Amino acid sequence: MDAALGRLLVSVLCLLAAAAEPAAAAARAFFVFGDSLVDNGNNNYLLTTARADAPPYGIDFPTHRATGRFSNGLNIPDIISEHLGAEPALPYLSPELRGVKLLVGANFASAGVGILNDTGIQFVNIIRIGDQLQYFQEYQRKLRALIGEEQAAQLVSQALVLITLGGNDFVNNYYLVPMSVRSRQYALPDYVRLLVSEYRKILSRLYELGARKVIVTGTGPIGCVPAELAMRSPNGECVAELMRAVTLFNPQLVDMVRGLNRAIGADVFVTANTMRMNFDYINNPQRFGFTNVQVACCGQGPYNGIGLCTPASNVCANRDVFAFWDAFHPTERASRIIVDQFMHGDTDYMHPMNLSTILAMDREGL
Ligand SMILES: *[C@@H]1O[C@H](CO)[C@@H](O)[C@H](O)[C@H]1NC(C)=O
Ligand SMILES: *[C@@H]1O[C@H](CO)[C@@H](O)[C@H](O)[C@H]1NC(C)=O
Repeated sequence: MDAALGRLLVSVLCLLAAAAEPAAAAARAFFVFGDSLVDNGNNNYLLTTARADAPPYGIDFPTHRATGRFSNGLNIPDIISEHLGAEPALPYLSPELRGVKLLVGANFASAGVGILNDTGIQFVNIIRIGDQLQYFQEYQRKLRALIGEEQAAQLVSQALVLITLGGNDFVNNYYLVPMSVRSRQYALPDYVRLLVSEYRKILSRLYELGARKVIVTGTGPIGCVPAELAMRSPNGECVAELMRAVTLFNPQLVDMVRGLNRAIGADVFVTANTMRMNFDYINNPQRFGFTNVQVACCGQGPYNGIGLCTPASNVCANRDVFAFWDAFHPTERASRIIVDQFMHGDTDYMHPMNLSTILAMDREGL
């Protein structure tokens, strides 16, 4: 399609949207980068064991089918899209992502990846973060061909971006096996410093590529997930060594992001304290309607935390009372609680501002 026709198409779409519903006119594009917490199907197209495209994944999804989301239903990006008043951004590798669908954004995330290139090597064929950023450039070329240079740059700069990385650099790298290569190479504090300095380069690159509103999630309580309880916790308490890793990583991530914002001279990056968000319901399940915050809904063995969630696994009857869907990932219910904090949390949860503030600022700017 030529650029002028593309622009006309966008204007017509905007007019239609404005006539139909004011909120829809404000829907901005959404770009997602990171790991399985936010992958919505890219790994379906790859030869990898890190996948969620068989039942019972998707059991509570609107279509009741497995889509590649590591959830019983919707995942965190889906719920953010609801708040944006938009349909979910398609996986970048989906053949359906073309034409006007490009205007919604794209999801580049790939289960198994980390900040470091050697994280997740056991999953063989995954889209490492450098490649996700390359795909973002390729996406922008397609977008420019559709709507022209100026409109494309505007769409990207007004878009919301979410990036979730770091958990796998511990679970699927440093702590994957006793005496891992990385743990022999680095003491934990030095490894954390390496991760944070590499993450800074990734975020700087995102900024160079035009991102201007980026939510950066901290690492959740990886020592409390059913897989780690099953493998390493004799008494059901969160695994201390993994919690030590997160406790070192998250504050340094926040400092790095603040430094980056200072260097840029604008609040481009917003940190989400997902540790705190998770702990709220792990420490106070009843308040959030959970009866179970340790056992995965789908799995086998202690805490349903051993192996993968497959058609042969145990599956709980009521997913809404479980915090964990499988050995590592939250249920849709838990993801809704987390995104609620993205939207409305105070500066302890979202720094320097929450998502409802971002969206309100953008509306004023229109
Ligand atoms: C990861 O790989 C990419 C592409 O090969 C490279 O540009 C980048 O520097 C690597 N990162 C690290 C931390 O080695
Ligand atoms: C977060 O969102 C709520 C609106 O839901 C708002 O009242 C509050 O002031 C916001 N907090 C910050 C720190 O932006």
